Amino acid sequence: MAISVGVPKESVAGERRVAAVPELVQRFQKAGMDILLEKGAGDAACYTDSDFEEKGARIVSRAEALGADIVLKVQPPSAEEIKGLKKGAVLIGFLSPLDQPQVARDLAAAGASAFAMELVPRISRAQTMDALSAMGSIGGYRAVLLAAERLPKFFPLLTTAAGTVKPANVLVLGAGVAGLQAIATARRLGARVSAYDIRAEVKEQIESLGGRFVELEIETQDSEDTGGYAKALAEEKAKRQTELLEPHIAKADVVVTTALIPGRPAPVLITENAVKGMHAGSVIVDLAAANGGNCALTKAGETVDANGVTILGPTNLPAEMAIHASEMYGRTLLALAGEMVKEGELSLDFDDEIIGGSCVCHGGDVVNERVKSLLAG
Ligand code: NAI
Repeated sequence: MAISVGVPKESVAGERRVAAVPELVQRFQKAGMDILLEKGAGDAACYTDSDFEEKGARIVSRAEALGADIVLKVQPPSAEEIKGLKKGAVLIGFLSPLDQPQVARDLAAAGASAFAMELVPRISRAQTMDALSAMGSIGGYRAVLLAAERLPKFFPLLTTAAGTVKPANVLVLGAGVAGLQAIATARRLGARVSAYDIRAEVKEQIESLGGRFVELEIETQDSEDTGGYAKALAEEKAKRQTELLEPHIAKADVVVTTALIPGRPAPVLITENAVKGMHAGSVIVDLAAANGGNCALTKAGETVDANGVTILGPTNLPAEMAIHASEMYGRTLLALAGEMVKEGELSLDFDDEIIGGSCVCHGGDVVNERVKSLLAG
């Protein structure tokens, strides 16, 4: 008998994504897994129950979807969802393990084996499971569209009978996955783009997308950890960084910020003073809003007007592109779940870098060291 894979309807307000899409149902089946979709779970992402049924999924009650062998989620599970899991169930999803470690503790208490998509190691074998990158690039794309819509100016250079219009200046702070997609999108719309990151090796990537790399005179050699992620700068350097960024921010019509440091509050790159230096009509889109924001004036989930400068603090842009976001996210889940099912049986090899690395709890215990120490502290 195939392993049952439950896909419950997401319960967090504003979440429109679903953890599987009809096109993936047969691929799950080939890998030995049957999709049990909670009735209506795909509606908000524009995938109907009959789309799923046609591809071979079974439409079931919420209790049945939550009671499956493997449960696939987008958002961290609620208490009600955790209660619905059967003992020994596998749960895979975004679990915010470093921000909400208590979810891992509750999942452990429920006897589940839970895997956080955020903890999938970024090694080449796990590229197809890189949900953070998939969602990051949606965020970067969407952020630029939001800015273009708000900006009372054109993005491209236009030569018209009424004269020439200069292209908009777009500055991207943080050139990881989201930032690079923001650069590419702003370039496609015809803006003049510059970008900054503390990891100097992104210079070439920025330039290959047609952006200009902003170089600041601060020592950042120690700004990267062994996994290629940014580390927090020391206070003095961070202050210097914000000062040096000010003139670049003042020239920008649009600033898209994406700077994050895993497990820590986002660094403030745009101070209140820097916002004062911007001209009215400019737009800041702060993709780090949910982690405290890269701009001192950002309010998560809100739009702030600071003397005519609009500051957007969206917290879930992928949900606004639910069709593609669900499709891309679902593929990353299929790739990870596929590593856990061997010859029609659930088989968890914790010595495997991907399985072991992404596991937050198993056998009643929280097993991830960072999550454990957060819970102990
Ligand atoms: P992220 O979302 O954690 O951070 C976004 C960006 O903000 C990063 O580029 C970071 O350097 C930058 N940042 C942090 N603090 C900053 C500060 N104070 N000032 C300016 N910029 C700051 O990063 P993301 O996009 O998830 O990926 C980061 C790293 O992971 C990169 O090295 C990327 O190449 C690597 N990666 C590797 C993958 C793989 O090997 N499969 C897949 C995706 C990313």
